[in-house]
Amino acid sequence: MSTATSTPVSAATTKKQSLGYKTFSIGKFNFERDEYFAHIYYPGNQHIIPIDNFLRSLMRDVGWGFFYGTVNFDNVFGTVNHYGTVEMFVGLFNDAYRKTNRHFVETFQSADLRKVFEAMLDDWTNEGFDPYAAPDETGKPFGPKHGSNTKALKRIRQVAKRMVGLPGDLPYRTDAEYPVNRQFTDVPQDKPEIHAEPGFEGQVHAFNAFGYIVRSDVTWNPSVVSCVHDSQFCATTEEHALPITHGNDRVEWFIQVCDEIVWDVDDGATGRPRAKVTMKPGDVAAMPADIRHKGYSPKRSILVVWENNDDRLPKMYANHELKPYPVEF
Ligand code: PHB
Ligand code: FE
Repeated sequence: MSTATSTPVSAATTKKQSLGYKTFSIGKFNFERDEYFAHIYYPGNQHIIPIDNFLRSLMRDVGWGFFYGTVNFDNVFGTVNHYGTVEMFVGLFNDAYRKTNRHFVETFQSADLRKVFEAMLDDWTNEGFDPYAAPDETGKPFGPKHGSNTKALKRIRQVAKRMVGLPGDLPYRTDAEYPVNRQFTDVPQDKPEIHAEPGFEGQVHAFNAFGYIVRSDVTWNPSVVSCVHDSQFCATTEEHALPITHGNDRVEWFIQVCDEIVWDVDDGATGRPRAKVTMKPGDVAAMPADIRHKGYSPKRSILVVWENNDDRLPKMYANHELKPYPVEF
């Protein structure tokens, strides 16, 4: 008896190779891309992710140094940051994969995985596609390899040491480099007046934070606008969807400054739905430490994410020394 499976499989492989994209591997993982998809091969099976979402998620994972806790690219594939090492997984936080023992996890030195991710992001991003931009403000990522967009991928995350505008700290955003976004032309750009008591001149600082934030050229990429010890105010403009689903390893606070974001909140370990949270201007929410969340912003909105950067926290939540939520109702 003959089998007819080999011809179509090899035709697809040949097609992929002729598109001009490099393939990447680390440990037992292999990554290939075609015109529409990223293909992830690992012992036992393979997984497929639409290339636009894959590149947008990869950009965040690289740009944020694997972030706090888990970066889920979708319900199946992602990374867990252990701050020095990182786990790359298939199905680790997916009930069905876990119950049937189909999950796969491998640990890497963060620097090693970062190198592979950076090279993959650079090779797979075509000219005209910016994975940090809102879908309506960028070109398409599809098709055979054509050009690159390295400059957009190398944006450094903007982090204030103390506060935007202080001497030696992050500068204000100017019209030349950061024009006001098309959806925020109604936001005033005036400057606060500072009237310090005699003797306190030079010790008081204020700036128009909204005027600064609405000049962001990226979406779903918080930048630190003020910082006191481990307390970081991370402001960001959001449009369309947060590409990743974030499995946080600590409590995160959200302050909705304008417009609206809808959050899907699922159990962090199983992915089972737990809540829908619609945040309107002025709303404040705390995301517990044992969930994962993905946001949807129909119109460009301003969000402040308040992060606690204390590196002792993940262990304290994992050991149940701290409750996963900050407030007892
Ligand atoms: C989050 O995961 O909490 C997050 C990430 C990026 C954003 C906003 C929120 O822009
Ligand atoms: Fe988060």
